[in-house]
Amino acid sequence: MERDLKKIISEMTLEEKAGMCSGEDFWRLKKVERLGIPEVMVSDGPHGLRKQPGEADHLGIGESIVAVCFPAACATASSFDTELMNEMGKTLGEECQAENLSVLLGPAVNIKRSPLCGRNFEYLSEDPYLAGKMAASYIRGVQSWDVGTSMKHYAANNQEYNRMSCSSNLSERTFREIYLPAFETAVKEAQPKTIMCSYNKINGEYASENKHLLTEILRDEWGFEGYVMTDWGAVADRVTGIVAGLDLEMPGSHGVNDAKIIAAVKDGSLDEALLDKAVERILKVLFSYADNRHPEAVFDRDADHEKAVKIETECAVLLENNGILPLKEGRKVVYIGEYAEKPRYQGGGSSHINSSKVTSALESAKEKGRPVSYVKGFPFDKDEENAGELAAAVQAAKDAEVAVIFAGLPDLIESEGYDRKDMKLPACQNKLIEEVIKVQPNTVVVLHNGSPVEVPWADKTAAILEMYFGGQGVGEATDKLLYGEVNPSGRLAETFPLRLEDNPSYLNFPGDGVNVDYAEGIYVGYRYYDARKMPVRWAFGHGLSYTEYEYSNLNMPAESLDDKGCVKVTVDVKNTGSMVGKEVVQLYVSDKNGTAGRPVKELKGFAKVELQPGETKTVEFALTARDLSFYHEGLGDWYAPSGTYEVLIGHASDEIALRGELSFKTEKQLPLYVSGATTIGELMAHPVTAPIIGGLMQNMQGAMGAMQSDPTENVEDTLGTGAEMMKAMMHGMPLKSLASFAGAEMAAQIELMIQGMNQALGNK
Ligand code: BGC
Repeated sequence: MERDLKKIISEMTLEEKAGMCSGEDFWRLKKVERLGIPEVMVSDGPHGLRKQPGEADHLGIGESIVAVCFPAACATASSFDTELMNEMGKTLGEECQAENLSVLLGPAVNIKRSPLCGRNFEYLSEDPYLAGKMAASYIRGVQSWDVGTSMKHYAANNQEYNRMSCSSNLSERTFREIYLPAFETAVKEAQPKTIMCSYNKINGEYASENKHLLTEILRDEWGFEGYVMTDWGAVADRVTGIVAGLDLEMPGSHGVNDAKIIAAVKDGSLDEALLDKAVERILKVLFSYADNRHPEAVFDRDADHEKAVKIETECAVLLENNGILPLKEGRKVVYIGEYAEKPRYQGGGSSHINSSKVTSALESAKEKGRPVSYVKGFPFDKDEENAGELAAAVQAAKDAEVAVIFAGLPDLIESEGYDRKDMKLPACQNKLIEEVIKVQPNTVVVLHNGSPVEVPWADKTAAILEMYFGGQGVGEATDKLLYGEVNPSGRLAETFPLRLEDNPSYLNFPGDGVNVDYAEGIYVGYRYYDARKMPVRWAFGHGLSYTEYEYSNLNMPAESLDDKGCVKVTVDVKNTGSMVGKEVVQLYVSDKNGTAGRPVKELKGFAKVELQPGETKTVEFALTARDLSFYHEGLGDWYAPSGTYEVLIGHASDEIALRGELSFKTEKQLPLYVSGATTIGELMAHPVTAPIIGGLMQNMQGAMGAMQSDPTENVEDTLGTGAEMMKAMMHGMPLKSLASFAGAEMAAQIELMIQGMNQALGNK
């Protein structure tokens, strides 16, 4: 049904319109019965429903309905599987329809800047390309049920410490290349119905009153059509927010801010048309839900639990394996660590789910009749060493053929609301692992954590399986993977550094509480470790399998890519082992033109393919100019210089199998304003000024030494061989200095030339 929203709004009173722009209570929007505007409810998100019918809170403390806890984003991102994300989204969308929820508060797409961020478990990746593609798929899935999503937290909210007030200070380039693209991709590809702005400031301005963010970038550039809501309590100045493009305040201010909107319209400081626009955006989304209810939707908790198990099996990452895994049936195994019995499967805070059931690996092993014994070893909820438990664990490990230690981070260490202090596992766990390894070479470690941990014992273990916060089916999923019922296929969506101090944000995280400077710029995650050639524990994209894959036939187009075109890249991948498996083919792009300040390589494509033993499939990728580009602040746009780009295909960021070259030609010209401070090098690099400055150089032949006749030749060449120092000096020589060396006549000529070049460049 098409609603005439403008007509409805024209019939609303000023009070009703202001009221529509804030919540009725913690989770509901206001209704206007006389105009047929119904009350609708929203709910957290992102990996399950935290619907609170009674007492409400935004910290996951109070009761919520019994729901299904799916793997958190730290896990789902590791699937590198957009279809899986879509399936999970669809399941959540149906659950929302069945529970009468109009918007699900997710996905959360903030970039993992530091391993310490307490909420990393809820975020997807350190890489914006991966995060954007995965988020878009999730959004399409949820919204296929006419339920909205609220992509959050927009933007540059990458820590918990003082998240409600701190200013994230970063350059426009860093913002555009690292912290915005996940939002951008998902807006352009999936149109989330709503976006949640973050609490923090960006370069001193609250996200909730940031017009550049909420209107210029989000709507004018990306074409966002939905409404922007605040994170819970993120309003600063309400009226400034409306002007900036903020539509809905949640959970509401008990009328205080509504009154400010009304007063501002009355005294003329707020244009009523802006308020009408905000109301229109809210109503559009509200009716897109209310007019499209799905009575057939059911929330089948048992069926969805099975889906949660299935999803987690596709997410877990096999980090190390000397061949001990998959475990052979009948081997005498001991499970150590309380997580074997009580898995850590979700993070604390607003995403916390009241799970319908939780399965442990121990329970699953028993159900399947596996010869597995169990020793607690250490507690699941604190860092407390118990000598008796430790001794029992060591003895049991000695007596068994294989020891599987279930390690992880307790709630107290990793949660929304605060950041971790270090990257370590609890000391009691590290000690137990070290002791067990001494007596049992077949020691496997299973990890339950939302973000990387230091693993000093890694080289001494037989295998390490990263389950992340794997949702309520994590136990069954662990069992299937350990025993080879499913072949692990997850890949790390983040780097595991060897130690916290190696992380690029280390010196600037989390700032002083007022400001946090993103001084590492675009060098986040593998972009930094690659550039520094720094050894890491496990690289971005890493993940093992019980089979092997081989790459061949990388096919690159012979013709140049241009600004508007799109090229197809294909590659063959073969399963050369003996077990069916899923490979994640990764494509990275590298600028080979010596452009300053570019990462060694950046992910620009990935695909997950299932392969039977011996089977080969051809995987196809599409590349456009944007995939080669960086954000040029002077141009205010994406830019890639004409030249050569390398396309790298591989199994992980540190396991590149094939390389090919692509040529690119751009019509875009970088802005140049010529003044006395402009250098010869800058002028030679620009196609408009290069011939002019070349001409001048020729005229100066006498003064400057032997010159070649072609004025468009590079300055370097015109100076003859052996004059390295002279070349470098000329390259960096500003026109004003050249003028002072060259004498009065030439100086006058240079003055005129500056005017001429600006004219030729179209500068005023
Ligand atoms: C969180 C949001 C969440 C909201 C509602 C806030 O504290 O930052 O992610 O959606 O609460 O619970």
